[in-house]
Amino acid sequence: MTHSHDQDATRALLHMRGVTKTFGQGDISVHALRGVDLAIGAGEFTALVGPSGSGKTTLLNLIGALDRQTSGSVTVLGRDLGSLTKRQRARLRLSEIGFVFQAYNLVPVLTAQENVEFVLELRGIGARERRKRAQRALAELGLAELADRRPGELSGGQQQRVAVARSVAGEPRLVLADEPTANLDSDNAEALIAMMRRLRTERGMTFVFSTHDARVVAHAARVVHLRDGKVEHDEQKANQA
Ligand SMILES: Nc1ncnc2c1ncn2[C@@H]1O[C@H](COP(=O)(O)OP(=O)(O)O)[C@@H](O)[C@H]1O
Ligand SMILES: [Mg+2]
Repeated sequence: MTHSHDQDATRALLHMRGVTKTFGQGDISVHALRGVDLAIGAGEFTALVGPSGSGKTTLLNLIGALDRQTSGSVTVLGRDLGSLTKRQRARLRLSEIGFVFQAYNLVPVLTAQENVEFVLELRGIGARERRKRAQRALAELGLAELADRRPGELSGGQQQRVAVARSVAGEPRLVLADEPTANLDSDNAEALIAMMRRLRTERGMTFVFSTHDARVVAHAARVVHLRDGKVEHDEQKANQA
């Protein structure tokens, strides 16, 4: 399957055109993104790779409406992010996008179950439904037996699986993960990606994640290589799509 940006423009779940991001001004400015064109369709499982400083985090932050581009357009789930107010962007993040970070970001005093329920509560979902969804998500990540443990009583791999459960429990259409396996050993890293991949198939969610890890990249259906703030290479593995 080939990807023509023009052809995909209307169907794409996310679409970037001529996107630049510059931090700072004048002599001390850093051009983190220098003209990115990218379209990702619904249900794709895409890895973002590239050396440190190539712009992976900046790109994910723009897609996730956590930051704004300097120029160019970013359209996510049919919304032109540049034209949204701060409040509209916050609502989009809460209702449609799941986030997984490198450092797990779990609340230490809450159990695994409570950590997952917490984001559902922010979305105004009632207690019974919260419990049901959290249990389902934890079970999908192989954590049914560990639901009552706090993060300090879980391994790194288990904590990151809780973070993935939390990111998908609200049934977002898009899940963004910035180096989710960076703190895991290779076995745990591969297991986490395999679970994300299964969620993508079973729930039809779209995943975009950044990584350094070649073993993790091997599980991606599509690999977008960034270098110096540009897409250097966009590799679609047809056999894994
Ligand atoms: N908030 C910021 N202020 C200034 N420079 C930044 C900021 N965030 C990122 N950068 C710079 O932008 C470039 C891309 O960074 P980043 O997106 O974090 O790359 P990656 O995630 O691929 O390591 C780097 O040169 C980085 O130093
Ligand atoms: Mg980064």
